[in-house]
Amino acid sequence: MTPIQADQTPAATSTDAALATALTTVRANIAAFAAGYPDDTTRGGVYPPRPATDRLPAGANRGWTTSFWPGQLWLAWELTGDEEFRVAASGTVASFVDRVERGIDLDTHDLGFLYTLACVAPWRLLADRGARDAALAAADHLMTRFLEPAGIIQAWGSLEDPGQRGRTIIDSLMNMPLLYWATEQTGDERYADAARRHTAQLRDQMIRPDGTTFHTFWWDVVTGRPLRGSTQQGFTDDSCWARGQAWGIYGFALNYRYTHDESFLDAARTCADYFLAHLPADGVAYWDLDFTDGDDQPRDSSAAAIAVCGLAEVVGWLPDGPDRDRYRERADAILASLAEAYTPVAGSNALLLHGVYDWPSSIGVDEGTLWGDYFYLEALARKVLPGWTLYW
Ligand code: GLY
Repeated sequence: MTPIQADQTPAATSTDAALATALTTVRANIAAFAAGYPDDTTRGGVYPPRPATDRLPAGANRGWTTSFWPGQLWLAWELTGDEEFRVAASGTVASFVDRVERGIDLDTHDLGFLYTLACVAPWRLLADRGARDAALAAADHLMTRFLEPAGIIQAWGSLEDPGQRGRTIIDSLMNMPLLYWATEQTGDERYADAARRHTAQLRDQMIRPDGTTFHTFWWDVVTGRPLRGSTQQGFTDDSCWARGQAWGIYGFALNYRYTHDESFLDAARTCADYFLAHLPADGVAYWDLDFTDGDDQPRDSSAAAIAVCGLAEVVGWLPDGPDRDRYRERADAILASLAEAYTPVAGSNALLLHGVYDWPSSIGVDEGTLWGDYFYLEALARKVLPGWTLYW
């Protein structure tokens, strides 16, 4: 492929144009984020530094979204071959090594999001052994959250916290590739077995008969019995949180990639079919799929970007035929809509605007999101780098 020039204009295709714009922003953000990690979402369209806590300074590597910045940098380097991106991406590895070594904010299933993009990526791309060791240490931490006899990975909080014990969330499907990778690296099947069992539990309990998904689900940690679904970021316990459904598409498809368990691909398709059947006219989901055109509610552009990547993953595993064509066409249309109407015009350093982090808690509503930016760039990269080797 021809490397994309970050400032190339006029571009040959709309994908090239969208990529050129996105890469210009990523390049500018190298300086903007040099002093520390940005916050999860923009405020008024601009990323502030990650706030300080009582223990950590502003810009510290904490929370679940910091890896989406190096993820963007690795993609930008692969897309352009430009050393500026590689140097900036490599420069983030030390803070992820430090985080896992010093045990900073590790009580979370999100270790997969964090260490896949920040450390598995440089291992895959550059054989960075320090990054590999940190990613393996993160996989070991993730394994401590695997609860028997339920066979699930607890999502949030300390394992002793009665308010979170036995609870997992659909987003966690995206954290399983770190465990499959750890098995590939070490030959120890425990990691992949845990990922397979966790994913099978989510397939069986979190997808409702109508193809919608729960955001979170609880298991009895003593008996292993499934208890009940609920939500944290969706509209109601019974509604269908758009980003959760998108995590389901991509997450089940990635679990299929590593297991070839057909039921996981079927689960991804169930999530996809409901998602696609409940989109507004421009293809960019409202933050909860219970809403549509005419409802006075914000969109979640990040759910759309994740779904595009998930659909691309599903398409890659389907034989030629109408289903494959349909998923590809819908994914292309959503991506075109994002590029056309959800990217900033000026004055913002997000790649995508109009995402929602947590509507019930009024956090990051109608803003840019670090993960939305990453998945938008991955969706574009998947278009122009056929055969791209996933970080996941
Ligand atoms: N994984 C957290 C979220 O999607 O908000």
